[in-house]
Amino acid sequence: MSLIKVNAEHRYHVEIDCDRNDALAEIVSNHNKVLLILPSDINRMYPNLTRHSKFEFLKIPNGEAAKNITTVQTIWKRAAQLKFARNDAIVAIGGGATTDVAGFAASTWMRGIPWYAIPTSLAGMVDAAIGGKTGINQSFGKNLVGSFYSPQKVFIDLSFLDSLSQRDFNAGLAEVIKCGFIKRPEILTRIVEYRQNIARLIELAVRTKAEVVGQDFKESRTREILNYGHTLGHAIEKDSNFKLRHGEAISIGMVFAAQLSNQLLNLTVQEVQTHTDLLSKLNLPISYPKKRWSSLSNLLFQDKKVRNGRVRFIGLTRIGKTAWLEDVNQIELKRCYETIAS
Ligand SMILES: NC(=O)c1ccc[n+]([C@@H]2O[C@H](COP(=O)([O-])OP(=O)(O)OC[C@H]3O[C@@H](n4cnc5c(N)ncnc54)[C@H](O)[C@@H]3O)[C@@H](O)[C@H]2O)c1
Repeated sequence: MSLIKVNAEHRYHVEIDCDRNDALAEIVSNHNKVLLILPSDINRMYPNLTRHSKFEFLKIPNGEAAKNITTVQTIWKRAAQLKFARNDAIVAIGGGATTDVAGFAASTWMRGIPWYAIPTSLAGMVDAAIGGKTGINQSFGKNLVGSFYSPQKVFIDLSFLDSLSQRDFNAGLAEVIKCGFIKRPEILTRIVEYRQNIARLIELAVRTKAEVVGQDFKESRTREILNYGHTLGHAIEKDSNFKLRHGEAISIGMVFAAQLSNQLLNLTVQEVQTHTDLLSKLNLPISYPKKRWSSLSNLLFQDKKVRNGRVRFIGLTRIGKTAWLEDVNQIELKRCYETIAS
């Protein structure tokens, strides 16, 4: 078991390799009432969560289908019925969509009540539940409404991963490998044997995110390095109509960012090759159709990370060392896309 400290608007810990029922026992000892929010598939797959007189359960739709204002209103309504006050707590048990929506509801009920995350997907464990970003989707865009509101603690029970599909597992590994590319090359040597190394890999990824978030909680600059691969990745995710998993789109985005870094920051050809080799070994996609460029280029300029009409990319000067690529022109972007397109 390891405990990682996160310094955000308050200090909290991420406990890795714990038991979910021990986590619930710890939470209940600190609060009057506890509302456990979980998607229906987790509720079905894990029926033997500890029961306690202080617990109330709220089932919400699976994954992204729950990440909206309707679910937030359902949570507010239940909180009102239970007369939830500031010494009560919300616990989110699920993937990133569940922790995002439950965390957002916690941040808004009575201007903020304590909440805890018990992530069940790999993407949730290494990314969504760490760092205090909560939010929902709207018809006009994904994740545009939200808050920075950290949990009291994050509990990672690795046994949840047993029921995760291989595809979702690999998509989660994309965020782990990203941490290796931007800051912790040790991850890259361990990731090939990911099954044996999973606890250590999660720990290294959480440590990386915790360090970055600790330096720049509200993403004024440093935190942007976590967006390596995300600029094109978000555009690909949208262009695929969300048929590609976030991690799969980010995988292609990282190959693109590596190629761009080769063109503009002298990242070596071998280091670009390390990207494609490792991502392919994890069965993650590394290219996207050539004919999609005009759509992707339009989407790139609509991204919420565009500032003053300029698309910003996180690049690498070498593996483990990030740099900002500001104002890359259309010709350079297109030329780069052609090197990764299928
Ligand atoms: N807040 C942040 O900083 C942040 C960062 C990255 C991603 N996100 C968000 O996280 C979401 C993606 O997270 P995700 O990949 O966990 O997807 P998800 O929460 O949509 O879950 C995907 C599916 O897997 C199921 N699932 C979860 N755990 C499972 C398990 N152990 N066994 C079997 N099925 C399981 C879920 O119920 C769901 O049906 C997106 O909404 C994204 O915007 C947030």
